[in-house]
Amino acid sequence: MTADPFTRWRDLVLSARSRRYEAGRDLAFWQTKAADYDDSQPALPNTVRWLSQQLRGAQSLLEVGAGTGRLLLPLAEGVPHVTALDYSPEMLARLQAKAPPPNVKTVCCPLQDAPAHVPPHDAALSAWSLAYQPDLRSALNTIRQLSRERFYLLEDDGIGSPHVQLRRSLAGNPKPGRATLLREALRALSWEYGVQHITEQRELILPNTPALLALTRLPLLENEVLDALEPYLTRQGAGWRYRWTFEVTVLTVSALIRADLGAVQ
Ligand SMILES: C[S@@+](CC[C@H](N)C(=O)[O-])C[C@H]1O[C@@H](n2cnc3c(N)ncnc32)[C@H](O)[C@@H]1O
Repeated sequence: MTADPFTRWRDLVLSARSRRYEAGRDLAFWQTKAADYDDSQPALPNTVRWLSQQLRGAQSLLEVGAGTGRLLLPLAEGVPHVTALDYSPEMLARLQAKAPPPNVKTVCCPLQDAPAHVPPHDAALSAWSLAYQPDLRSALNTIRQLSRERFYLLEDDGIGSPHVQLRRSLAGNPKPGRATLLREALRALSWEYGVQHITEQRELILPNTPALLALTRLPLLENEVLDALEPYLTRQGAGWRYRWTFEVTVLTVSALIRADLGAVQ
């Protein structure tokens, strides 16, 4: 019998060799990653556009795990009160260094403690911030508690790039996708939600073939790597332009308690 989505999520989180499910290790990771986080992440213009439309009329927005503000700062242009919550002081320092407008407030605390520090906002957002939370049920309940009307969960199934997809299929041990598990968890909770898939593009410029091979870390010969990734590669001088599209899954969850569903815990 397949385990329930919360157990499968927990098993997935606890399978991480990095042990970032221990808060101290995750915080140490973000301490060193903060400086190059923005450069290592793709821009998400289509996701920002979609969310901005959805947030029209909202008076307040809370992002839990806001990081450097990649999503929150552009969204703050359309929402009067915005709170960026994160437990990594280094990530929030990067956000602050971008001189956010006065309607953006930062709060440095773990999601688990947030209800003691932050009032409910009209909308809440969690984008790739639950990946190392073993107790998904508790994390979702906390986000719901902080949302007056609705919240948005952004995730993907971890197969964003062609080389990671290929590496996983060669290894033959596909892990369950986080976006899929989140949907199953919401269903298990009987929470009302909608699903949106948003296509984004990623482009990397690699100065030469060794750099491409180092990035892809595929257990294949050079010509096999080039063959497999051929649809995504364009020659650029001595190197390559490597471009692909990937999908962001947005789950929009209603935080309103419907009489026919009863109070959902
Ligand atoms: C992958 S980054 C995503 C940042 C941002 N949402 C984005 O999409 O660019 C995850 C962020 O969540 C934060 N985070 C992870 N677990 C957290 C927790 N329990 N409480 C508060 N922040 C947390 C990390 O510090 C990190 O800044």
